[in-house]
Amino acid sequence: MAQVSEQLIGDHAAIDKVLKQLQSALRDSDVETAHGKLDLFWARLAVHVRAEHLHLFPTVLSKVKNAAVGRASAPSLEEAQSVVAQLREDHDFFMHELALAVEIMRELLTLPQQFIAPEGLNNVERIVLEVEERLVKHNDLEENQIYHWTTILLNSEEQAKLANQITSELLKHPPRFTPSTWLDE
Ligand SMILES: [Fe+2]
Ligand SMILES: [Fe+2]
Repeated sequence: MAQVSEQLIGDHAAIDKVLKQLQSALRDSDVETAHGKLDLFWARLAVHVRAEHLHLFPTVLSKVKNAAVGRASAPSLEEAQSVVAQLREDHDFFMHELALAVEIMRELLTLPQQFIAPEGLNNVERIVLEVEERLVKHNDLEENQIYHWTTILLNSEEQAKLANQITSELLKHPPRFTPSTWLDE
């Protein structure tokens, strides 16, 4: 498997692990842990999305546009553009919904434990579930299409360049996380 897919698929799995921890904290009504995990999930997904927007999507689209003769297995420009548009829409949905969940969670944190109504956490749980359902399909689409296309469209030098860009982008975590909380070690 090429480096680019390996990195991003590995990041999908790492983000999914945080999501599962978040859901378990929500089930236990552990507001503090759930808040920390939600913040981490949101931030890790945002950094992943940024790497795709800044490096993966433009590289793939410009390569498809400039390819003089497309290989049989390569996507057409229309196909690539429509997949990227769908993926961007999903990203907007994730960021919008998670910002909402963080807002609810921050409000809940200002209340003493005994005043936290179950509906508050249920709302967060419902949003997280919607995000999870769409994220599963989203990751599947990426792993089977755009990540795979990098191996068809880019030569090994171009793949290595993109992999480096993605690596440095994924390392740019917000300063509120230490390297060990970021990697959840
Ligand atoms: Fe994505
Ligand atoms: Fe992704």
